[in-house]
Amino acid sequence: MFTHLSTETRQIIASLYGLPDADVAWVFPPDSSQGDLSTSVALKIAGGLGKKPQEIARSIADAISLSPSVEHAEVAGPGYVNIRLTVARLLEAWKEAHAAIAPVSERDENPVIVDFCGPNIAKPLGAHHLGSHIIGQAIINLYRHTGAHVIGWSYPGDWGTQFGKLWVAYDRWGDKKKSLKDVTVEDLLALYVRFHEEAEKDATLDDAARAAFRKIEEGDAALRSFWADTVAVTKKDLDEIYVRLHVHIDRETGESFYENRMQPIIEEGIAKGVFQEGEGGSLIVPFAEETGMPPLLIRKGDGATLYATRDLAMIRYRIDTAHPSAMYYVVDVAQRLHFQQVFATAALLGWEMPEHEHTVFGRMRFSGAAMSTRKGTSLRMRQLLDEAVKRAGDIITERGDAIQADDPKDLAEMMGVGAVAYGILSQNRAMDIVFDWDRMLSFEGNSAPYLQYTHARARSVLRKAALAGDPVLPAVDVLEPEDRKLLLMLLRFPIVLAESRDARMPHKLTNYLYALCQSFNSFYNSVPILQATAPLRDLRLVLTASVADMLRTGASLLTIRVPDRM
Ligand code: ARG
Repeated sequence: MFTHLSTETRQIIASLYGLPDADVAWVFPPDSSQGDLSTSVALKIAGGLGKKPQEIARSIADAISLSPSVEHAEVAGPGYVNIRLTVARLLEAWKEAHAAIAPVSERDENPVIVDFCGPNIAKPLGAHHLGSHIIGQAIINLYRHTGAHVIGWSYPGDWGTQFGKLWVAYDRWGDKKKSLKDVTVEDLLALYVRFHEEAEKDATLDDAARAAFRKIEEGDAALRSFWADTVAVTKKDLDEIYVRLHVHIDRETGESFYENRMQPIIEEGIAKGVFQEGEGGSLIVPFAEETGMPPLLIRKGDGATLYATRDLAMIRYRIDTAHPSAMYYVVDVAQRLHFQQVFATAALLGWEMPEHEHTVFGRMRFSGAAMSTRKGTSLRMRQLLDEAVKRAGDIITERGDAIQADDPKDLAEMMGVGAVAYGILSQNRAMDIVFDWDRMLSFEGNSAPYLQYTHARARSVLRKAALAGDPVLPAVDVLEPEDRKLLLMLLRFPIVLAESRDARMPHKLTNYLYALCQSFNSFYNSVPILQATAPLRDLRLVLTASVADMLRTGASLLTIRVPDRM
């Protein structure tokens, strides 16, 4: 947005000091009284030049003040150069920033793969799965919106002896009157739990389960069809939740998909001496002592492969078929060692890896409590969402006339689910993610309801203005301080989108949206908008519409909807 200023400044430094490519960055200072933009380049180059930073800053300020974009330049503190831009330049920059509300069309390039969701088949989604779904989707949205070719790729856990157990349990205790298609995920879970209870008393059950899973692997028609039904039942349940969460999976290959793609890798690993014989005829990857990593089990003594073996097969498959430029795995911190080992193994195999990262997120818990139900079982995602929507509904009822909603039920859904998503995304994902109902549903804080409320407030101003179309930017040559402040806040939007995407840190975007809400609300409270006279009134309506649009775009990137009225 301000690259031309950096170029101009670089030229100034080149001609004054003979330094051809100084690292010039113009940034928004924390406090707008320090000017619109600020650079610390004088401080950076002073040492090498053996001059006082303030002296250099003075010379740069004098020269840059002649730029047509600059109204005024000054030196501050130990050697910063602060500038005020001309109104024309600011408005031009605003147009550029505002354009970032529209998605950039997809570039023709190698894709970024975001590994997310990865639910386990035949089990209800737990509240702790929200992280991978919501954070993964937000990251995907950020890439896609800014023009990247991105594939949101899910890797469901649909394979393993648990399906043998499930078959044995269904065979003995399942309700055969019900068609398998009508069985719910909760029924499947109950069967699985029952299996474990009974297996404590009857050791033959485990053998039966292993045998049943072997049959599934061998392609036994009846067992395969049972397995496929459990997958279908789970998918139906997931789809419902995904609609509520605004989660969309582009590609999906379950663990079963890699069943016959592991053998070539096992052979490659043995041939390259990376996979070695471990205890009891197993196959392992021993890592160098200084890595501190325990060996990775690739194949058990009985020939069974593991989660890690399949993850390796998936890396190979993705590289060979999709040619990704990057692979990001949005998976919780409990799997940190797993990914370290898998990536290290790929390196030992000599695979040419694209950029890759375990895009880790912390443990999710309630403030002061683990995420489980009173009975100690893990809390379902559906229960958590329903609880949030119920609480949002209560707030709407409590506020009575203070909240206007055309459809209070829909507003409660939007607020409740949005509060949960925002609650997760607004925290630095690298840390524990703490749930706090009061904070998440607050109308004043860094929360979805506050964002939604601010959006509705801006839309309401625009409705009252009763314009025929979008407000049009008028010709203005002076800005009042409040207008300038809000305008500068709007300019940050595309920069924040890029930063949030590149760091894969959605909280950078929520922090910004929160600041934007605060700026708008203080603007709204301190200057007249509808009562202002032209051209100020038009300018303020333009700013108001821009706030509303950026809030809506930002929220939707975070999977959150915003109401027009509230
Ligand atoms: N199904 C796994 C789980 O629930 C998550 C999958 C993560 N992705 C991966 N490529 N391993 O723990």
